Amino acid sequence: MSTTGETRTIDTADETAQREEQANTNRRQRYGQGFLDTISTGWAERPESLPSARAQASFAAARRAVVSASFPGERLVVPAGSLKQRSNDTDYPFRAHSAFAHLTGWERDAEPDSVLVLDPTDGGHTATLYFRERADRTTAEFYSDASIGEFWIGPRPSRAGVAAELALATAPLDEFTALPGDRVVDADDDLTRAVSELRLVKDEYEIEQLRLAVRASADGFDDIIRELPRIIAHPRGERVVEGVFHQRARSDGNGEGYDTIAASGPHACYLHWTRNDGAVVPGDLILIDAGVEVDSLYTADITRTLPVSGRFTDVQRRVYETVREAADAAFRAARPGARFREVHEAAMAVIATRVAEWGLLPVTADEALAEGVGGQHRRYMVHGTSHHLGIDVHDCAQARREMYYDGVLEAGMVFTIEPGLYFQIDDLTVPEEYRGIGVRIEDDILMTVDGPVNLSADIPRTADDVEAWMLRLGAP
Ligand code: GLY
Ligand code: MN
Ligand code: MN
Repeated sequence: MSTTGETRTIDTADETAQREEQANTNRRQRYGQGFLDTISTGWAERPESLPSARAQASFAAARRAVVSASFPGERLVVPAGSLKQRSNDTDYPFRAHSAFAHLTGWERDAEPDSVLVLDPTDGGHTATLYFRERADRTTAEFYSDASIGEFWIGPRPSRAGVAAELALATAPLDEFTALPGDRVVDADDDLTRAVSELRLVKDEYEIEQLRLAVRASADGFDDIIRELPRIIAHPRGERVVEGVFHQRARSDGNGEGYDTIAASGPHACYLHWTRNDGAVVPGDLILIDAGVEVDSLYTADITRTLPVSGRFTDVQRRVYETVREAADAAFRAARPGARFREVHEAAMAVIATRVAEWGLLPVTADEALAEGVGGQHRRYMVHGTSHHLGIDVHDCAQARREMYYDGVLEAGMVFTIEPGLYFQIDDLTVPEEYRGIGVRIEDDILMTVDGPVNLSADIPRTADDVEAWMLRLGAP
């Protein structure tokens, strides 16, 4: 099994010339002999001073120690993943596998195809990071390989530099060989589960990164409100929302942690509306679910639902404040020692009670909340209330159910609280005034020994505070 994708070798200039002979040459001109004779010379020496270790290096070492202790005597392989083709000769931007980034501390700038290997020793494991070191300027890769050559993509890291920054032994990628019996993340269930469960409780570095991600995302939401006049004026205002947030995500972070949902009016009722090709119309609500992924790859996951005109109508406010009531009940249920699923149950109790009061259910709230036989209220909120959050937006997804949904909340866990109410435009079970209203409020919560802390509390969440926020930022 190949864990590193296609292996590239470094060509000599002659081999490159031969390769070009055979390749599709529509966009290539052959290099003349004069170019080939001179391209490798005339370059200044590269400075050899080594960088110091990054802050995350010691945290990654501690994480590796936990994994090592769980798999004595086993060889463990954690691939970073490879570039993925988008179309023809264009790839998606590379993003390292979360377990790889977590266990190496090599994050935004990780090299495609790298592999972390933990080789068993008497006392545990030794870690080696295999990666494709930059080619020197005597190779054809340097000037002719558009996907990895430094002439094309810019400087690439040296082995010694990466070793110093990550405080890890490094080795050339072509020295890595997959062995029978390797446990490989994503190919071995036990190891995949272990590296996922390892992230259930965040360390200090991770919590700091999540705080940064939330702060940048808060700025992105401010940007959207400031741009509302332009958003409303554009026939595809939802795309403008996406673009405004993207600008913040790319300038202040690595990008978005997931595709932005910019769902105006009835689109808000489609839970993962990412087409974002609709207009943003005063009088409607717009639901925006967006999170900045910072350079360490940790992401926020925040939703706010705004009245496009700056003021909620009565019915919009009623729905909005019910969702907030559910979110607040969930927050109160989140305590160290409480079960993760109790957070969801607290939100559901509010949702069922209110929609029963509004006459939307064919049964009582208690009947709807009865396990197994009820659930009628879920028509209006089919998704869960919470998920773990971290280097993946849906972090720790391979953790066992007893550690996750049925698990107990501990200090250091970070998760979302995100109840909603969605009344589809063609739902005949609700009065007309509710149809086409979709509301979600999503916050990022850090559990501490003293209880939950809402990391995104500074982004206004009550109906009154949302209106005041919009007024302050000059919304329409
Ligand atoms: N943004 C996806 C989610 O809220 O889970
Ligand atoms: Mn979420
Ligand atoms: Mn979300």
